[in-house]
Amino acid sequence: MNDTPQRILLGVSGGIAAYKAADLVRRLRERGAQVRVVLTENAERFVTALTFQALSGEPVRTSLWDSAAEASMGHIELARWAQRVLIAPASADLIARLAQGQADDLLTTLCLATEAPLFLAPAMNRVMWEHAAVQANLDTLVARGATVLGPDEGGQACGETGAGRMWEPAAIAAAALAPAPDPAAAAVLAGRNLLLTAGPTVEDLDPVRYLGNRSSGRMGYAIAAEAQRLGMRVTLVSGPVNLPAPAGVERIAVRSAEQMREAVTGRVSGADLFIATAAVADFRPRQASRDKIKKRGDGGLVLELVQNPDILAEVAARQERPFVVGFAAETCDVERYALDKLERKRLDLIAANRVGEEGTGFDADANALTVLWPGGRQEIGRADKAQVARELLSLIAQRLQARP
Ligand code: PMT
Repeated sequence: MNDTPQRILLGVSGGIAAYKAADLVRRLRERGAQVRVVLTENAERFVTALTFQALSGEPVRTSLWDSAAEASMGHIELARWAQRVLIAPASADLIARLAQGQADDLLTTLCLATEAPLFLAPAMNRVMWEHAAVQANLDTLVARGATVLGPDEGGQACGETGAGRMWEPAAIAAAALAPAPDPAAAAVLAGRNLLLTAGPTVEDLDPVRYLGNRSSGRMGYAIAAEAQRLGMRVTLVSGPVNLPAPAGVERIAVRSAEQMREAVTGRVSGADLFIATAAVADFRPRQASRDKIKKRGDGGLVLELVQNPDILAEVAARQERPFVVGFAAETCDVERYALDKLERKRLDLIAANRVGEEGTGFDADANALTVLWPGGRQEIGRADKAQVARELLSLIAQRLQARP
């Protein structure tokens, strides 16, 4: 398959997020893709074929029983035409039918008849999303090679708040048109175990206040998702973030640096690769107050802080250690401080990013890295975090292979 797929078969299933699929067609076309759309019977209750025909500039298919299109086995022609199949929104019902291998309408039949990679952008109520049946069906599809895009957390059409909102069309288009996983990286990394930390840690001051930082988890979650695509078994130890776990990734939710350390220590012996993207609090209050700290007249408050364990340095100091990758978040002298951390913490590789600037680093969609290892360096230019994750994992695979 081409590195940059151009022919996208967009399947739209029945859910309120179907209206966003119209915008998705535009986003895909803006990126140079040719888009053919298939609507399920239930999707047609929310949107019309005419909308998608106008936006895609292609005829829209809605039924397997279209005698004109099927005179020349149209569904097989369409299945062969597609370089990628993208289903957005993917409803719980459609996901279940795909997991069972059903072929009871045009879209499910196409998914069985195509050799193109399948991408799913789920959208549903948060309780449905968390249901064990939905998660098990997705695991089945991921194990067969499907890529799951999202969902996001946030307000939902049903009035509830939580995970289940479809990704925004621009993000779906970017992910669905992303290059195929790097085969050279997959050859090295597939089947290996990745242990990864991500997000912030928070250190409680009292039952209502904490010390935290601006890490959103996006960099770490992008690496987890890409590593899973490369065939790695991924365990993600995550501080509190507003991101759902990437499909196929085991997530261990923690809060404080000490909890993160305990989760890492308990799992590191099976890891081939350890990547620390988490922004771990260097200090915690010596004692968290059991009750809410009250104002005391007009005086200030002095907090006594003690140092947290350095999780990354501890992993690197183990006798039997995985390949160890650290991150460095710096506001100035990025390379000098990163080199110091590489040597002092005895890392195999460090990825340094400048933080404190608008648009990259903490809580941003994009990042740029200077990657350093003993005797070498490489720049990864500014790009969205998914692309940065791809390039970083390709580089890690090269360094892992070059290791004596
Ligand atoms: O989460 P995002 O919003 O996407 O932002 C991404 C990011 C900017 C947080 C990420 O790219 C990043 O730079 N992560 C490292 C942040 C950091 O804490 O850097 P540091 O220079 O303070 O720490 C150096 C390394 O030691 C890091 O790998 C860190 O995970 C690790 N560390 C630090 C302290 C500690 N007690 N334990 C650790 O393991």
